[in-house]
Amino acid sequence: MKVLSGIQPTGPIHWGNYFGAIRQYIALQDNEQAFYFIANLHALTTVREPAKLRDWTHDIAIDLLALGLNPDKATLFVQSDVPEVSELCWLLMTGAPMGLLERCHAYKDKKAKGLTADAGLFTYPVLQAADILAYDSDTVPVGEDQVQHIEVCRDLAGSFNHEFGDVFVMPNAYVLETSARVPGTDGEKMSKSYNNTLAVFEDAKAQRKQIMRIVTDSRPMDQPKEPAGDVLYDLYSLVAPTADREAMAALYRRGGFGYGEVKKALADAAEKYWAEPRTRRADLAAHPARIREILGDGAAKARTKAAQVLRRAQDACGVAQR
Ligand code: TRP
Repeated sequence: MKVLSGIQPTGPIHWGNYFGAIRQYIALQDNEQAFYFIANLHALTTVREPAKLRDWTHDIAIDLLALGLNPDKATLFVQSDVPEVSELCWLLMTGAPMGLLERCHAYKDKKAKGLTADAGLFTYPVLQAADILAYDSDTVPVGEDQVQHIEVCRDLAGSFNHEFGDVFVMPNAYVLETSARVPGTDGEKMSKSYNNTLAVFEDAKAQRKQIMRIVTDSRPMDQPKEPAGDVLYDLYSLVAPTADREAMAALYRRGGFGYGEVKKALADAAEKYWAEPRTRRADLAAHPARIREILGDGAAKARTKAAQVLRRAQDACGVAQR
């Protein structure tokens, strides 16, 4: 499989990002040809502070490497380092039906709220289609919320192929496993928009404080409780070794414990779980030249591929002179 996915640099990554997506991207690098990029052009539709956009783009590259993305296996690059994608985007744009884009949720939701949308948000899915098609990707691992965008990509690729010949490879969405529930500190789904996140690369002490503040129900100490579905237990399950998780489940079912103990166990387990990536991250962050080199190599590889596909598309639609 030729796997490709993009991650927007919109701020520090949290447990939900990791367990919901990043962990699975990294796992795919072992057996598949994987291209992963930092979607800074997409982020520009919402991040309008240059320093932040620049920092977050750099930071997320370090995050991914610290979490185990191996640049010898997967190709890691920054979206804007491959200008061929933006050119391809235009070719696709000329045949993208307004109605198709009007139905896309990001734009539609914004309109429904009475907000004014810009052309960047409106054509966001076309750039995403160019991202995917530029590398002949056949498999796009994404969360459920992105499936619509992959459908748009297939639509655009299909009609371009129909009009101009067999240019693009038809990609498929590979919907990521969401069986792991990642609740936020308020019990809702962990999400930046709910302001309930636990950052992956948080200082251990600060994270412990955040964990201690997690809202729990006022269950009496001696009553047994079903572990699954409890915020603390669900978070604990993500970071604790199996034996500890089973022991914790038994404790819940037996009853007679306080949430304070669980919070402490959770903070301890989290500290252990993230210790190695945090150390690796500090080391990577101290070597910015190495990061630049990795992203430079990744961009060079990506550009070679994208240039071939762009040329194919230009030839087919007649913008390249023979
Ligand atoms: N829109 C995706 C998101 O917000 C990010 C993205 C941009 C992407 N281009 C892509 C994902 C291409 C997969 C393929 O999560």
